[in-house]
Amino acid sequence: MRSMIELSGISKSYGTGATRVPAIGNVSFSVAAGEFVSIVGPSGCGKSTILNMIAGFLPPTSGTLSVDGIPVAAGSVPQGLGYIFQKDTVLPWLTVGDNIGLGLRYRHEQKLRIERKVADLLAMAGLSGYEKLYPHQLSGGMRQRVALLMTLACDPAVLLLDEPFGALDTHTKIVLHKELLDIWRRLKQTIVMVTHDLDEAVTLSDRVIVLSAPPSRLILDHRVSIPHPRDVFSVREQEAFAGNVRAVWHVLGDEFRRNQAFDRIVTGSAA
Ligand SMILES: Nc1ncnc2c1ncn2[C@@H]1O[C@H](COP(=O)(O)OP(=O)(O)OP(=O)(O)O)[C@@H](O)[C@H]1O
Ligand SMILES: [Mg+2]
Repeated sequence: MRSMIELSGISKSYGTGATRVPAIGNVSFSVAAGEFVSIVGPSGCGKSTILNMIAGFLPPTSGTLSVDGIPVAAGSVPQGLGYIFQKDTVLPWLTVGDNIGLGLRYRHEQKLRIERKVADLLAMAGLSGYEKLYPHQLSGGMRQRVALLMTLACDPAVLLLDEPFGALDTHTKIVLHKELLDIWRRLKQTIVMVTHDLDEAVTLSDRVIVLSAPPSRLILDHRVSIPHPRDVFSVREQEAFAGNVRAVWHVLGDEFRRNQAFDRIVTGSAA
């Protein structure tokens, strides 16, 4: 299958001299067009940094990366890329409808086309009738849904999602998982999602990549052995679900344990 995202020998350090922080040691992986890949790993291992480098916000210290066969140049966002950041990204001073239509207005689309597109997206996400409200009048789950629609409005071929459902309760999360899978099934974007939730990673993705503590390396590239389409409600009860979560946790849990031992050495705390 055609490769959409390629990272080859990527390392990334921040700062210089005594303040130098080596975040990513050496990471290579590729994501095929239309594939859904999740990235998990200890806090600070460079997951958000990887998304920021794919988006062209930051240059790697070494290595190369490309999107759709074109090398990513720091400072220029690859064509057709949508990004949901780790923090809430809706603009509080715009209504729901204006938030969703923002990217299209930047593209100077016709007003009528924007209105139609916004209405379609709102209907798809069960938010019709909410377009005139402001983000503070919505629940956390609804705000996150608006953030997703904002990104989808510009028809991205590549979606980067940084813990998009992190702050939500389990029920809202699962409803949004269903929406994301429905959207992905229809539009077949290439998706790279960072998460700390292994159930979420296994429910949604084709592959789960596990990174080590910094300076990070790729320590597991696990292919989820559950065929799509998946029903987000019943998939958790499948035998294979627990097996896939266990396979990822086996490696990630070990890494946490090793890291804890390292923390004890650094802080001098007792075992
Ligand atoms: N702009 C920056 N300047 C300096 N250091 C940074 C910067 N951004 C990130 N770092 C450092 O790089 C490392 C990786 O950060 P990053 O945000 O990519 O981690 P992460 O894996 O996304 O963590 P989390 O799971 O907590 O979101 C951390 O040590 C962080 O302090
Ligand atoms: Mg992060």
